[in-house]
Amino acid sequence: MTDKIRQSDPWITQLEIDTVADMMQNGWNNYDYVETFERKFAQYHNRKHALMTPCCTHAIHLALLSIGVNSGDEVIVPECTWTATAAPITYIGATPVFADIDPENWCLSPESVESKITEKTKAIIPVDLYGNMPDTSALEDLSELYEIPIIEDAAEALGTLYRVGDRGGNFKKAGSFGTASVFSFHRTKTITTGEGGMLLMDDSNMYERASFFRDHGRHPTIPYFTVAATPKYMPSNLAASVGYAQFQRLPELIDRKREIFLAYKERLSDVPDLQFNQDDERVYNGVWATSVVFGKSLGLRKPRILESLKEMGLPSRPFFYPLSVLNAYNYYGTGSMEENPNAYDISDRGITLPGSYSLTNGEIDRITDGIRKIVRK
Ligand SMILES: Cc1ncc(COP(=O)(O)O)c(C=O)c1O
Repeated sequence: MTDKIRQSDPWITQLEIDTVADMMQNGWNNYDYVETFERKFAQYHNRKHALMTPCCTHAIHLALLSIGVNSGDEVIVPECTWTATAAPITYIGATPVFADIDPENWCLSPESVESKITEKTKAIIPVDLYGNMPDTSALEDLSELYEIPIIEDAAEALGTLYRVGDRGGNFKKAGSFGTASVFSFHRTKTITTGEGGMLLMDDSNMYERASFFRDHGRHPTIPYFTVAATPKYMPSNLAASVGYAQFQRLPELIDRKREIFLAYKERLSDVPDLQFNQDDERVYNGVWATSVVFGKSLGLRKPRILESLKEMGLPSRPFFYPLSVLNAYNYYGTGSMEENPNAYDISDRGITLPGSYSLTNGEIDRITDGIRKIVRK
């Protein structure tokens, strides 16, 4: 036993254990769990097709290949996201173009996207950062106007609902926007398969192409005859058995994530000028992870906040760095503080709090007391 607070931990019950045991006894010669998980996950998101992958990064790569992004093309992504949104663009030899985020929702700004569209732009990947949602209708308008498909990166937004249209409009699930969408089941995510991902889409031709790229470019009718040297991103039935069991428990998992989020917010309600994940009349946030942006009036920057929490023995994570500061993307020369000031500014003032399912009220008290001390220093 340790009293160390963990940043993220899954919530595994007897259902997951029994389902994995069934897979162990009966699941080595079929893809039953993969197929069932895919079918149920697509239905839940009101999509026609789903393909499970070994991780979400691979799902993004498959989506780009299937919509025909080629070497030399450009794909617009937010400046502020995890590297996985942009890295697969480079696998193809295409260029990730970084656009700014909206300071209110931390997601891709439609105005910035429009300013970055060129003849070479072949896709736009908005990211539902920390379960927040971008202005999907403005992005869909751009997609239609310029005929550029959207791949929604919903890796962090399982369970988020977004109200479309004006007040009183219907809620749509994160992951049901654009030509395709992707999810992650990494060990830190809302539901986990250890490592895993899902690609969702409606178009049957795209589904066929993505299936082809997922499994060695096999000939449609001649067994063991390959037509193209594609990646191999087949999922395992073992991972799918965990995922399917977790997915059946999704409502209670989201309730628990929201309970943690609301506990943080409630305990920190006396601290002025903190901006939490979006959760309002427009967005019902699935809150994969509670994130906080410290207001400018507090005069605090990310490195100092992270360091002070560490000194108190409290874990936390940095808000994602602007991708153009990372060595990985220097070569492409897109994005900068001048071009994308909001991404740089928000990232510089933000952190992510521990979001383990096992967090106790006492641990949440310790973390929020720590934040209060830093703010009052
Ligand atoms: C926004 C975003 N996109 C993509 C990914 C990639 O997920 P995975 O680790 O399953 O490849 C992640 C998760 O880490 C993510 O947070």
